[in-house]
Amino acid sequence: MLLMAPTLNDRDALADILAFHVEAGVDVALGEEPVDRFAESAAERSSAASRMAAAPSGESSPHVPRAAAPSPAPRPATPAIAGEAPPPPDLAAVEAREAAANAPTLEVLEALLEKFDGCPLKHTATRLVFADGNPQARLMLVGEAPGRDEDIEGKPFVGRSGKLLDRMLAAIGIDRTGCYIANVVPWRPPGNRTPTPQETAICLPFIRRQIELANPDVLVCLGGPSAQTLLGIRDGITKARGRWMEYDTSSRVIPALATFHPAYLLRSPLGKRMVWRDMLAIEARLAGAPERAPD
Ligand code: URA
Repeated sequence: MLLMAPTLNDRDALADILAFHVEAGVDVALGEEPVDRFAESAAERSSAASRMAAAPSGESSPHVPRAAAPSPAPRPATPAIAGEAPPPPDLAAVEAREAAANAPTLEVLEALLEKFDGCPLKHTATRLVFADGNPQARLMLVGEAPGRDEDIEGKPFVGRSGKLLDRMLAAIGIDRTGCYIANVVPWRPPGNRTPTPQETAICLPFIRRQIELANPDVLVCLGGPSAQTLLGIRDGITKARGRWMEYDTSSRVIPALATFHPAYLLRSPLGKRMVWRDMLAIEARLAGAPERAPD
């Protein structure tokens, strides 16, 4: 078949369709060919219906005792590490907890996350976004989840909000060598959507262990979702920000502060005044906090 180069009109139509998909949040191609999932599930329903119709009539009657069906062979637990199909979310969370607890160093933790297949976001993200900055630093900041730029570069906060975060930190004399940065969820959710509670729960043991291993003197949660997940609060960020709380790393209790996410500040620059106060509070806390004993 002769493939014609698209005419101008074809190109315009294709560009319109592409723009529509991008606006609708489509940002990754999962396969070469489209798959009609509605047709698939309709076919499954109709084949289940024909199996029911073909079954001996007593089998579907609630009044006739069923012959004992052979019990299915027990399903082996699906390993979430380097497994084929992702395990069910509750099993994935248990396996995440076990894997994270056994990581003796940040390097091992990162390697475990690279192999961990229990979070579905891994399969749509380009790569793992583990951390940036200095793991020895006394200040650790944790955001929600990587965005598009982070997914491309493999480092947290490198896009527009990352540039603003750098300026916020520079205001108190800190650059990326003076802090350690990570996210609650280390894979980009498709279209930058909010991670689901299940995805967050699966990733939580890893970020908890990451904080414990980095062992900072001050923890800063960037935005409401990070604060709610890590500090267990229910307040929104407007109420929670600027208030010192405690975070138990499992090894010790450290001061923790929630502040506005830089992405919010890009949309609502008036919030910068309050973040400035939070940055000063962080600076003061770092100046007053006792130095960490060397590892
Ligand atoms: N927003 C986040 O929460 N984390 C990033 O790494 C980038 C944007």
